[in-house]
Amino acid sequence: MIMAPDRGEEDDTAPEDVADDLSTLNLNGDCNTLPVSEKFESDEALIQPENSVPPHLSHDPASNAKRSDPFQFGQRYLTETDDVFAFNAWDHVVPDAAHYEYSETQYAAQRASPVSDFDRNRFNTNPEKWWDLFYKQKTSTFFKDRKWLLQEFPVLHDITREAAGPQTLLEIGAGAGNTAFPIMRLNANPLLNVVAADFSSKAVETMRNAEEYDAKIGTIRAEAWDAAGEQLPDGLTDGSVDVVIMIFIFSALNPTQWAQAVTNVTRLLKPGGYVLFRDYGRGDLAQVRFKSGRWMGENFYVRGDGTRVYFFDKEELEQLWTKSFEVLNLDVDRRLIVNRQRKLKMYRCWIQGRFQKIPVVD
Ligand SMILES: C[S@@+](CC[C@H](N)C(=O)[O-])C[C@H]1O[C@@H](n2cnc3c(N)ncnc32)[C@H](O)[C@@H]1O
Repeated sequence: MIMAPDRGEEDDTAPEDVADDLSTLNLNGDCNTLPVSEKFESDEALIQPENSVPPHLSHDPASNAKRSDPFQFGQRYLTETDDVFAFNAWDHVVPDAAHYEYSETQYAAQRASPVSDFDRNRFNTNPEKWWDLFYKQKTSTFFKDRKWLLQEFPVLHDITREAAGPQTLLEIGAGAGNTAFPIMRLNANPLLNVVAADFSSKAVETMRNAEEYDAKIGTIRAEAWDAAGEQLPDGLTDGSVDVVIMIFIFSALNPTQWAQAVTNVTRLLKPGGYVLFRDYGRGDLAQVRFKSGRWMGENFYVRGDGTRVYFFDKEELEQLWTKSFEVLNLDVDRRLIVNRQRKLKMYRCWIQGRFQKIPVVD
């Protein structure tokens, strides 16, 4: 069983009966999203004999279906004849009506008990301060390394090839470097220039102090930068970036900041440049389970540690990004996580996208 560090204070808000299960999920960055077949099998499951089962139902890592294509999000499909409690997780499961009803009840209760005006102000003013606290308390391994990135976004292969030539990659909301460092590890391009930006100076310090900061091939530079501010990051000018990565950062912004952040990304990217995006989807377990005093606005919450989180739906992201970008892929990644012993079902939901800056035509 994969064990992710717990989310600290936020997990205190979990209902008693799912608290144990939640401690196995990283509900903040959560997102060690390897395919189910590679990730969630327990040791016990792995030793069961499997001769006549179809590959997607196999517990045998040698024969079960592996996700290989971008945006495929795993292949363990749940059919009516499957025993949902036979596996720890299933891909692409749309929640049932009972779950939707439960979620709506939860949302109504959340709205009825919003964050106080005092706290709203506290959490919306200098939000970086709350992330600083977060990084002071957590180790750099809190977020899992995003090893799946190159599989989901093949352009990362292109720019890290030995002969790819000069390439600038900007990661926004880079945190402790769990995306940037795995990319540097695989990089063969001596002319790759990675800027790992975060508005938390503590996150930047964590990256700068990491052993891997001293890249062997290419360069990496951690910079303090507010993606929703008016300035561009140090050393980067308009149209200077080939690829922007945004992994679980857009959800940390107040919706009032989205437009400015998109403007900044548009300015920074070269025409034809890409945004690689992944974030929380509407109805994710992490949203449904928020308790009273956390609701900041529709689908927008503050966690127990003062960091904010928004849950997106596909249409609103499409609308936001289509102004200056072609939305090449934008898909919902759903996963049903199962506690087989306690017969509990937990629905996770993320959104992943690939946007390309539209070249200006004279
Ligand atoms: C959930 S963490 C994700 C970290 C990293 N992308 C990962 O997946 O491991 C969100 C990160 O976004 C950063 N962040 C939030 N708002 C930001 C902003 N306005 N500008 C830059 N970084 C921001 C936070 O400091 C935090 O490191």
